[in-house]
Amino acid sequence: MNTMKKKILIIALTVVIMNVIFLLFIFSGIYNVSQLSPHNSLVRWMINKTKDRSIHSRIEDIKVPPLNDSAMVVSGFKNYSAMCMKCHGAPGEEMGELTQGLTPKPPRLFEHAKELEPNEAFWVVKNGIKFTAMPAFGPTHSDEDIWNIVAFLKNKLVNMSPDEYKQWKQQYPSNHPE
Ligand code: HEC
Repeated sequence: MNTMKKKILIIALTVVIMNVIFLLFIFSGIYNVSQLSPHNSLVRWMINKTKDRSIHSRIEDIKVPPLNDSAMVVSGFKNYSAMCMKCHGAPGEEMGELTQGLTPKPPRLFEHAKELEPNEAFWVVKNGIKFTAMPAFGPTHSDEDIWNIVAFLKNKLVNMSPDEYKQWKQQYPSNHPE
């Protein structure tokens, strides 16, 4: 056998062995899909990198409208307190029971939203994130509704005191069914 043929045989065998290992991994049940089993650091890195690259390659063309209109912020608040607070929390509010059993845990947006670009937040709220508990609100909410939520996140939530959040809840009750 000449060296070229040998090389091709070795490559083909390696591919077959890798496929067998991959199938054994799937069929053995060795991987724990429980929400209570945290990702190891390699899997976490792979998922986070994939997510980051996926989102950033899809948001460049999203045009951000002006977000400082106070009516937008109030409308965003009503949706946030009805649909997002239970997972993402709010100043002075206990984190809901939903968040205790999730991997990955929803970030506390009242602390974390400062670091988000508005177009990134818009994309995530509209599309959700596959394999996590983050739902897509695009099927049920217009782009305008979603920009209002982003306006609330970026221009109000991050600077809100617990007292102010409580006061807004009384002043602007949500019209969503609980
Ligand atoms: C059932 C729980 C749940 C609900 C309800 C929910 N989220 Fe999430 N959200 C998550 C989880 C879990 C993540 C983290 C996903 C990840 O780490 O990949 C997340 C991630 C996000 C992120 C991305 C944060 C980042 O750093 O990349 C944004 C923005 C966000 N959610 C906004 C919202 C908004 C706004 C609402 C309401 C309209 C909402 N979410 C409702 C669970 C939820």
